[in-house]
Amino acid sequence: MSGNRTFTMIKPDAVIAGNTGGITKMIEAAGFKIIAMKKTQLSAALAGKFYEVHKARPFYGELVAYMSSGAIVPMILEKENAVEDFRKLIGATDPKKAEPGTIRAVFAKSIDANAIHGSDSDANAEIEGSFFFSQFERF
Ligand code: RTP
Ligand code: MG
Repeated sequence: MSGNRTFTMIKPDAVIAGNTGGITKMIEAAGFKIIAMKKTQLSAALAGKFYEVHKARPFYGELVAYMSSGAIVPMILEKENAVEDFRKLIGATDPKKAEPGTIRAVFAKSIDANAIHGSDSDANAEIEGSFFFSQFERF
């Protein structure tokens, strides 16, 4: 992945609430092309590995338990300036602070159950995309 790709994951709260379609609709309407997508569920061990960067934070245990509690929908997305534009589309981590019209403002329930993940850099987009998708699955 180069500067025009990012990685996202619809989180368990949004999948279980039946918002996968509503969220992918917003993603495509904002000009992102879905390059790869699947529905899966993380074990606690894999969720812990995915969020390893937050290991020292007080919310790490809850985050790992939550992210492995149900199905998720990881995706690789393509658009110019993908990482930055996608962070704008999802809005602030805490939905109470998310700008109106962002995915988290529309769908997130709380700071933990905040509907969607978005990579925060090109390097992390590459690492996170590769965590879920092999080269063979990309097109
Ligand atoms: P994400 O990685 O999931 O896209 O979220 P983010 O960049 O907006 O936020 P980040 O700082 O990377 O935190 C990862 C996830 O941890 C939970 N969190 N809880 N209780 C808290 O203060 C707190 N801070 C973060 C959130 O669920 C956040 O999405
Ligand atoms: Mg983050």
